[in-house]
Amino acid sequence: MMYGVLFIVILLAYLLLIQNKKNQARYARQYIEDETAPLSAKQKQLIRDSWQRVLPVKEKAAELFYGRLFELDPGVKPLFKGKLDFQGDKLMMTLNVVVNSLDDLDAVEAMLQAMGKRHVIYGVEATHYETVGAALLWVLQQTLGEYFTEEVEDAWVTAYGVIATTMKEAAYSA
Ligand code: HEM
Repeated sequence: MMYGVLFIVILLAYLLLIQNKKNQARYARQYIEDETAPLSAKQKQLIRDSWQRVLPVKEKAAELFYGRLFELDPGVKPLFKGKLDFQGDKLMMTLNVVVNSLDDLDAVEAMLQAMGKRHVIYGVEATHYETVGAALLWVLQQTLGEYFTEEVEDAWVTAYGVIATTMKEAAYSA
């Protein structure tokens, strides 16, 4: 009887030890992933949360975006041949796809690379990505108001950087 209880206690202690080791390994993996990923888990969450606030007013946001873009660089206006409301919708759709793929950016890499190459045909130059990024951040600031904190801004700067770099590298390298 005594040995039976002792055996159960030792077995339970052993199982707890294994569980603990497994958890430690999982936390270590998460830590490594966060260290190497362009966006931390917190930043992804900030992007998702803030995007939820933009989506209900996406038409207005797209309109604001083009207004700001042409104000910052009137020279890019002639590049846009199609209707801007239709165009704005496509831009928002693309951002939506990327926001929904933050946990697996590899899945949208090929789409962004192809889009970057198409943009060369539209007459887009590498430096234009900076202006578009500035216009996008301004729209987020206008739309989110006080929710556009420094942390939210940093997260979007990083996310836009990933998108723009992927598009530009496919379009302009070699
Ligand atoms: C985050 C970066 C960008 C995203 C997500 C984006 C998204 C899009 C999308 C979805 C289209 C529709 C056509 C297609 O898929 O090829 C498009 C077209 C276009 N984009 Fe972008 N774009 C970006 C950057 C830029 C930049 C930096 C410029 C430079 C001004 C630009 C100018 C244009 C033009 C001129 C068109 C064609 C419009 C037309 O024919 O009327 N885009 N963009």
